[in-house]
Parts: sequence; structure tokens; C-alpha cells
Amino acid sequence: MKKIYALTLALAFTACSNTSTKKVAQDAPFKYIVNPTVQTKGMQQIKGLIEGHLKPALMTEMKKDTSGMSGMELCSASAKGIESAYNESLPKDSNVRRTALKYRNPENKPDAIDVAVMNNLKENKNFNPVVIELDNHYRVYKALPTMKPCLACHGDTTAMNSSVKEMINKKYPTDLASNFKENEFRGVIVSEIQK
Ligand code: HEC
Repeated sequence: MKKIYALTLALAFTACSNTSTKKVAQDAPFKYIVNPTVQTKGMQQIKGLIEGHLKPALMTEMKKDTSGMSGMELCSASAKGIESAYNESLPKDSNVRRTALKYRNPENKPDAIDVAVMNNLKENKNFNPVVIELDNHYRVYKALPTMKPCLACHGDTTAMNSSVKEMINKKYPTDLASNFKENEFRGVIVSEIQK
């Protein structure tokens, strides 16, 4: 039970970081591939961001304040910095970011390839990593389910803590990432690895 909770929280931390600046062409063709080397490298980077960086920061805030307010403050104020610092520490060929079909932060907006892959993952209820190949790079996608602790900030807005709701309205007026139910497809973490 303890382990499950820790994992859930670990995933919650992925909630708070932001997109990076390394971008690629949005309409490039891609194909799904099986490449254990790329998948392992991508998953290491995805887990490294969660376990080593975002998790400790958000864990502290969620313990301090279970309403989610401190967590919201952390996410909106420092998550971006945490993620870009992590990306700075990665080799130059790699980059990790989060995105979603229904996103909260416009900076996490998906590109056309992200949308195609996410529609696929969502339809197939696939929460395992998948690897795609493009002309000049690979992407490893890991889907995230919405779990109970996520609902504090992504759940039913009528049941949400009023301060959290107010902060979402203020900071993210175009928010699409509320009113999720448990175990829905929430979004992905993507590792991009140059060839
Ligand atoms: C303490 C509040 C809070 C909790 C708990 C939380 N999130 Fe979020 N989440 C946010 C905020 C705020 C953002 C937007 C900030 C940013 O990262 O730019 C966000 C963004 C995200 C994003 C990036 C795409 C987007 O919508 O901008 C994903 C994916 C995500 N959350 C998934 C989750 C999952 C899965 C959980 C539970 C395991 C979770 N979140 C729990 C507050 C939270």
C-alpha cells in the first residue's frame, strides 16, 4: 500500500514541470518501432526527472498542505525551472517534456505527432512505454493515468478545494485539464532522443 502511494505521488510530481525549448518539425512522418535500447534510455530519463527531481519537491509540498494549494504554487512557480534544470543535466541529444490532449499550461501544448500518438494510447488504454521513429530523432512516450491524488488539482471542479480552483482559474484561464475521473488517460511524459 505504501509503495502504491509512493508511486502515485511520484507521478503527481510529473504533473508540475514544463516543456523544454528544443523543438522539432510538427508534421514530420513517424512510425512505431521496437527498440529496447532507445526505450530503456528514454525511460531512464523519464524516471530520472520524476524520482530525482520533481518528486522530492512536490512530496514536501503535499505533505505540508494536503489541500494541494502549496503543490499548485510549486507547480506554477518552480516546476518549469526544475524541468529545464533537469534537461540541462541530460546529454545534448536528449530532452524530456510533458504534454496532454487536455492540457492546463499552454506551454505544454502537444504537436501533431504527440496528438496522434496520444489518441492511439488513449484508445488502446495503453500505459506502457511506446517508441516512435522520426527522420532525425526518436521519442519514447509514457502515458499517465489520472490517480486519486491527481484529482485534487485535475478532478471535478465542483468538488475541488476552492482556493485551488481559484488559482487554476487565475493562472490558467484556458485550462482544459480539470474534471478528470480516476484511471482516465491524463497525458504523457515524452523523452526525445536525437539520432
Ligand atoms: C498540486 C496540484 C496538482 C496535482 C496534485 C497534480 N497536478 Fe498535474 N498539473 C498541475 C499544474 C498546476 C499543471 C500546469 C503547470 C505546468 O506544469 O506547467 C499540471 C500539469 C500537468 C501535466 C502537463 C500537461 C498540462 O496539462 O499542462 C500533466 C501530464 C499532469 N499535470 C498530470 C498529472 C497527474 C497524472 C497527476 C497525478 C499523478 C497530477 N497531474 C497531479 C497541478 C497538479
